[in-house]
Amino acid sequence: MDSFSGLRWSITLASFVLVALQLCLAQAPPQPEDIGTKGTSFLDHETPISQFWGKTFLRENIPFIDIPDKTIQDVYYYLGYAQALNTINAAAGHQIDEARWLRGKFYVDDYIQAYTRGPGNTTQYTHWILDALYRRSKVDGDKQFAINQLADMARLWGEWDYTFDTNAGLYYFTPNFDAQEYSLPGFVVAPTGNDKLQYDGPDTYRPSLNAYMIANARAIAAIGNYAGNSEVESSFTLIGSNLEAAMNRHLWSPDQEFYVDVIRPNNPDLKPISGREEVGLYPYRFGIGLESNHSRAALALFDPQGFQAPYGPTTLEIRNQYYTAQKPTGYCCFWQGQSWPYSTAHILKSLAAIYRSPNSPITADQYVQTLSTYATTQQKNGVPYVAESHYPFDNSWSSDSSNHSEHYDHSTNNDDVITGLLGIAPQSNHSLLVSPIMPKDWTFFAIENFAYHGHLITVLYDAYGERYKCGSSFCVFSDDKQIVSKNLTSPIHELISLRTTPIASVIPVNIAANPNGLGYYPMANASYTFYTDNPYKAIDGYLFYDDIPDNRWTNYQSNSLNDTLQVTFARPRTISSVTLALYSDVARGGGVDVPAAIEIYGSSGLIANLTNSTLLPNDRNTFSFKETKTSYVAVNLFNRPNKAVGVCELEVWTPPISGPTYYAVDSLLTNAAVVKDAAASIGAVVGQLAPESVVAFSGIESGGGKAKLALSYSNVGSTAVNIDVKVNQVRRVTLSLGGTKGTYDLEMIEGLDLEAGMNFVTFLGGSSQLRIKSIEIEN
Ligand SMILES: *[C@@H]1O[C@H](CO)[C@@H](O)[C@H](O)[C@H]1NC(C)=O
Ligand SMILES: *[C@@H]1O[C@H](CO)[C@@H](O)[C@H](O)[C@H]1NC(C)=O
Ligand SMILES: *[C@@H]1O[C@H](CO)[C@@H](O)[C@H](O)[C@H]1NC(C)=O
Ligand SMILES: *[C@@H]1O[C@H](CO)[C@@H](O)[C@H](O)[C@H]1NC(C)=O
Ligand SMILES: *[C@@H]1O[C@H](CO)[C@@H](O)[C@H](O)[C@H]1NC(C)=O
Ligand SMILES: *[C@@H]1O[C@H](CO)[C@@H](O)[C@H](O)[C@H]1NC(C)=O
Ligand SMILES: *[C@@H]1O[C@H](CO)[C@@H](O)[C@H](O)[C@H]1NC(C)=O
Ligand SMILES: *[C@@H]1O[C@H](CO)[C@@H](O)[C@H](O)[C@H]1NC(C)=O
Ligand SMILES: *[C@@H]1O[C@H](CO)[C@@H](O)[C@H](O)[C@H]1NC(C)=O
Repeated sequence: MDSFSGLRWSITLASFVLVALQLCLAQAPPQPEDIGTKGTSFLDHETPISQFWGKTFLRENIPFIDIPDKTIQDVYYYLGYAQALNTINAAAGHQIDEARWLRGKFYVDDYIQAYTRGPGNTTQYTHWILDALYRRSKVDGDKQFAINQLADMARLWGEWDYTFDTNAGLYYFTPNFDAQEYSLPGFVVAPTGNDKLQYDGPDTYRPSLNAYMIANARAIAAIGNYAGNSEVESSFTLIGSNLEAAMNRHLWSPDQEFYVDVIRPNNPDLKPISGREEVGLYPYRFGIGLESNHSRAALALFDPQGFQAPYGPTTLEIRNQYYTAQKPTGYCCFWQGQSWPYSTAHILKSLAAIYRSPNSPITADQYVQTLSTYATTQQKNGVPYVAESHYPFDNSWSSDSSNHSEHYDHSTNNDDVITGLLGIAPQSNHSLLVSPIMPKDWTFFAIENFAYHGHLITVLYDAYGERYKCGSSFCVFSDDKQIVSKNLTSPIHELISLRTTPIASVIPVNIAANPNGLGYYPMANASYTFYTDNPYKAIDGYLFYDDIPDNRWTNYQSNSLNDTLQVTFARPRTISSVTLALYSDVARGGGVDVPAAIEIYGSSGLIANLTNSTLLPNDRNTFSFKETKTSYVAVNLFNRPNKAVGVCELEVWTPPISGPTYYAVDSLLTNAAVVKDAAASIGAVVGQLAPESVVAFSGIESGGGKAKLALSYSNVGSTAVNIDVKVNQVRRVTLSLGGTKGTYDLEMIEGLDLEAGMNFVTFLGGSSQLRIKSIEIEN
């Protein structure tokens, strides 16, 4: 993958697009739903995060660990900073797996719904999003959220029908869009340098893609079971079994003792490719091949002519003639040899699944060795770091360009520590299995305050009882109460029952975030901006504090001792706080620091004057004030002596709109604009429409079922304009909007099916004579 940069911490974007069920009003950045719940404090919660920015987020969201391996632990905390909310569906399954361990449940809820309901594209790359959604439901215990997505899951499943070959009984795709460009099939069909064909590869029946489809089918079956829908459960169970049988028939090569690719063009006999690729080891993590002797294939990971390398595993066996046939030229990505964290993340889960299966050929030491190699790989200049692609035999990233691959988030790590190494195995019922993969010489481990089924759980193992002093060698706490105290010896395999505690979500939205880009509302401007910065970067919904990649506004080198950053809304909004994620690089030798004082202005003048606040550098600072109605927020920031000021994100969190009226100017617009119109009570509507226009209302709350929708629009023309209406990306109805002589009329849609939870209602098309004011929903 090379056409995108996988930045890790895009925290607020999805919260803006979709919001969860509201129970009360909150006007500060979202906090985990269980923020009032007391956990335990056996471990130091400050030192491990002291070197990172965004400490408030970390303190509130991550489980803390204590393990004997320092490298694995260091990389765990580095990646604890990760936010897995980038919308590229190739890695979405990994991102959900990783983010399911954040205390704030809304991050993953939003991210999932960006695909199940929103515009997230699930056909660009192969994916296991549905499987990840199901496994995630075992962590938060929220079956209803998963059940609400069931119809969407079945629809997303069907999007892949076109790549199903009924003769083979298998799915095919090009390796490139299976996240594996320049891989073996491309070299087999184009050995002599057809670069384009090598890069994409031919259509191929792949163990990766087919395993994903099996896992996705089984996830739909499992959630069908949650929903008591036996028809869905049995049909998708059968689909999964048939696919698995076809995989074992055609993709298992008895000669090579491996799941291998089968190239599709000119191959009517489905002759397997000659050569073993790392993708052939993916199926095990999804429970495929575990009950037979197929899992012995994983021993190739420990074979110096197989996939073993000091910074590996390699993506293709070292013995293969095409291994590193094309050498990286400084840029990405050559998956016939390079070490690819995306693949390693799959392999670690396969190894854990194999280790936990009967007759495992894998030892605990081999698992930990692989995880440890991975932690060693995820370093740069002696500190934890992840980029796109790594040389298998050199201590160096093979694709790591500035402002592109920093903290490249297309893999997991912490899920491999939590569920892999420490064996925190989530269950569908209110129980928790603890079954670590512990080397014999480990005498302790701890994982503290991870959110699970509405509780904060702490698990301690301490062979000699000296380290945590919890009374026994194995202790478990639920919230701050001890629920298990036993003297166990390794290997540990304990199923723990928990009480049910439903947790309520209270999720505000950031009305200052603009996921659409320049030219759309909300808009940002400033009295002065340093030339590499941009006011827009302070409202783009991405929050990170790095020097590079840069994502901030600063007044560096301004002639003024104070400067103003302003965000203007599409319509007046009622607000009672402003949150500033303040940039400071003085500790890094730079010239930007937190401000000496802050004045906050709105339509009615000065809203707040903060002359003596304790400001947190590289963290969020929230300033609350009396509710006020304003069409903009301007923050006037005063420099400290000889320093500039900087804002990574200006956020304004408000309760979400709960209907029944939703304004078009708040929706996501493509090829459309907010235009002033005194005829609308809020003074603005959406206009400048054209046939390619998209007006997408997000966050339409419903209990599910038929709804009545009233569209308020005007048409100054005399001919009717047709627009299509989609609900959750499915086309439902075409409206013919006749002339209204410029006044606002209502067009009614009766019996519109909405789904339980949040819905996207999208209008497509239009003409310059049409304006859209609002929709009103009657459930
Ligand atoms: C998804 O991406 C694919 C490949 O780029 C493209 O062909 C398709 O039109 C996209 N689908 C949507 C709904 O955007
Ligand atoms: C698996 O391998 C073991 C050892 O090689 C052998 O004894 C056993 O029969 C095999 N089982 C199957 C199902 O092939
Ligand atoms: C990094 O890339 C972003 C997005 O393309 C761009 O806005 C920014 O100016 C770049 N920064 C540097 C330092 O090149
Ligand atoms: C575990 O062993 C310790 C040390 O021998 C002892 O003090 C403790 O009571 C034991 N715990 C249980 C639950 O038996
Ligand atoms: C949960 O499921 C496990 C495994 O399926 C079972 O052994 C256990 O008894 C169940 N526990 C509860 C509390 O229902
Ligand atoms: C931002 O733009 C608006 C509209 O042009 C203007 O009134 C305001 O003064 C600008 N704010 C700053 C800080 O430059
Ligand atoms: C600096 O602060 C003063 C006092 O509040 C204000 O009048 C002025 O507009 C500010 N200057 C800039 C450039 O924002
Ligand atoms: C804010 O407070 C400071 C310190 O009291 C004062 O100097 C300044 O004039 C105040 N700003 C405004 C706009 O009132
Ligand atoms: C700022 O606040 C601190 C703590 O509240 C106080 O000790 C200090 O005197 C204040 N400084 C000024 C200049 O008001």
